[in-house]
Amino acid sequence: MLICRTIAEIKDFVRTARGAGQTVGLVPTMGYFHAGHLALMEEAGKTCDVVVVSLYVNPMQFGPREDLAQYPRDFERDCAMAREAGVDAIFVPTDEEMYPQGFATYVEVTGLTDRLCGQSRPGHFRGVATVVTKLLNIVTPDRAFFGRKDAQQALVIQRLVKDLNMDQEVVILPTVREEDGLAMSSRNVYLTAEQRRDALVLYRSLRAFRETVQRGERDAGKLRGMIYDLIAAVPGARPDYVEVLGLPELQPIEILQGGVIAAVAVRFGNTRLIDNVIMEV
Ligand code: PAF
Repeated sequence: MLICRTIAEIKDFVRTARGAGQTVGLVPTMGYFHAGHLALMEEAGKTCDVVVVSLYVNPMQFGPREDLAQYPRDFERDCAMAREAGVDAIFVPTDEEMYPQGFATYVEVTGLTDRLCGQSRPGHFRGVATVVTKLLNIVTPDRAFFGRKDAQQALVIQRLVKDLNMDQEVVILPTVREEDGLAMSSRNVYLTAEQRRDALVLYRSLRAFRETVQRGERDAGKLRGMIYDLIAAVPGARPDYVEVLGLPELQPIEILQGGVIAAVAVRFGNTRLIDNVIMEV
């Protein structure tokens, strides 16, 4: 597995692969790999000749009081896991390489970013949209792979690729969960044993949502209230948001119809976790 620290190096690698007629898959990540990342790499390997992983903890998508400095990092372990997963090249740029002096261009997806994490993390999606646009322009993959856990991020990336007439196919894969239902996240390592137990309420409340919808409930307000109450009943859980919205625009709804998402963000101590369930009703 090639380790590329500069844009010139990864471009060179991709140029050679393309010259040999190979298709290229990109898995953008912030590292500290878990089974969710590995599932993206595996799918990229199945559907593309060459797999590139980018590993960059993008400062632009963190707010001033967020966990940029604490974000878990283990480059040696990540390299070993990526190599094991059959990744061909890993792109690990520095901040200087990504945002050199004088950098002044930003990508902003409006509307879709008004709610959920866009509301509770101002500037977050501007950072995500800007870095993902840069990564897609640098690597120019045929396909780029993202996880469904970050459902709003997935929608934002699909929209920017469409709106900016980019050629990439954006592939969104299902959330990978621990055996007990907790969605895989690099941030799970922050949790104490008690918080880890408390955090199961995310999946429990979303499963209750799904089952209640399956039994026929269509009132978005009632369903939202049910999820909220289940979460608020856990003393260690502080809900950041609980929303039931329509898809594909994340529009507010009163009655569930067509594509819907229930999305939650909850703090356990200083750790903020997100999860969601998507249904067609
Ligand atoms: O989902 C992530 O890990 C990040 O938001 C991404 C897409 C790699 C952009 O920094």
